[in-house]
Amino acid sequence: MSTQITLRRPDDWHLHLRDGAMLAAVAPETARHFARAIIMPNLVPPVVTGAQAAAYRTRILNALPDGCGFTPLMTLYLTEATDADDLAAAHAAGIITAVKLYPAGATTNSASGVTNFDKVRPVLERMAEIGCPLCVHGEVVDPAVDIFDREAVFIDRVLDPIRRATPGLRVVMEHITTSQGVDYARAGGPDLGATITTHHLVINRNHILVGGIKPHYYCLPVAKREEHRQALLAAAASGEPTFFLGTDSAPHPDHLKEHACGCAGCFTATNTLSVLAEVFEREGALDRLEAFTSLNGPAFYGLPVNEGTVTLTKGAPVDYPAKIAVEGGDAVTVFQPGFPLHWSVSE
Ligand code: DOR
Ligand code: ZN
Repeated sequence: MSTQITLRRPDDWHLHLRDGAMLAAVAPETARHFARAIIMPNLVPPVVTGAQAAAYRTRILNALPDGCGFTPLMTLYLTEATDADDLAAAHAAGIITAVKLYPAGATTNSASGVTNFDKVRPVLERMAEIGCPLCVHGEVVDPAVDIFDREAVFIDRVLDPIRRATPGLRVVMEHITTSQGVDYARAGGPDLGATITTHHLVINRNHILVGGIKPHYYCLPVAKREEHRQALLAAAASGEPTFFLGTDSAPHPDHLKEHACGCAGCFTATNTLSVLAEVFEREGALDRLEAFTSLNGPAFYGLPVNEGTVTLTKGAPVDYPAKIAVEGGDAVTVFQPGFPLHWSVSE
């Protein structure tokens, strides 16, 4: 059995870095092992213009350790007032890599998102023309739809109609959590990709709710039944180019997670590669880990794979911090998969 594997340096195709003290605390956690990440724009207020994306990129670069070589790939937050010319100029200038669609009210800081999808149709058509991908948070917000069904209903009611109405639009279904998501992504051809998080490969809804509520396992889209986790595992471990890693690592201070109305988000940046190696090893798919973490994402985004590598070595259980401290006194709990991690990461 192999005890060491070397991968092209991975990328994270869906990451929350936040701003200020939180950004300073969490950015090094990702930059340690990853070369690039698609940076989510759901700040308060959101990143809606090219100028705001450029300024946020500068703040991220300033928060990184010197010489770490990490490249943030910026996104714009799509609103019903998004200016297609500003978007196209930011894309042409290399300031943004993609645009993020949040249905209004679907998740953390999504209040400025889209309610009427017809209103963003001209912007989506422009994006199809210029080849700017749309990253989609795929959940309906209709209160009549059960939270565990919101992804599957979104595909039928919103995503499929948008894709049919906008030929050539490149779409990433972010953080898929269901077998319906896997099936739709798989059938979508080369203009459709899907990211899968680390935590959705590990937890199902029982992990959140059985034996006491576990706020650090609560995220959106919420983890589903075990059969859906199995579908995600099979997709991630398949090596198919449609599926790639987007951790959705989403830090919140512990006091806002362990709260009567706890925030959604799992913070996995610190130990993602060790968790993934463990999960892929159990699937007998270590030879396909690199496709998921390092090859399929760049191919979808039309970017070169990274030159550097990381090496994973199997040994005694790896120590990782339980929490990351944030200046000012807050702490962020690191995702605990519930099993020991034997794969350590080196350059
Ligand atoms: O769990 C989540 N956390 N899901 C999201 O869509 C947003 C994210 C966040 O920003 O905290
Ligand atoms: Zn996210």
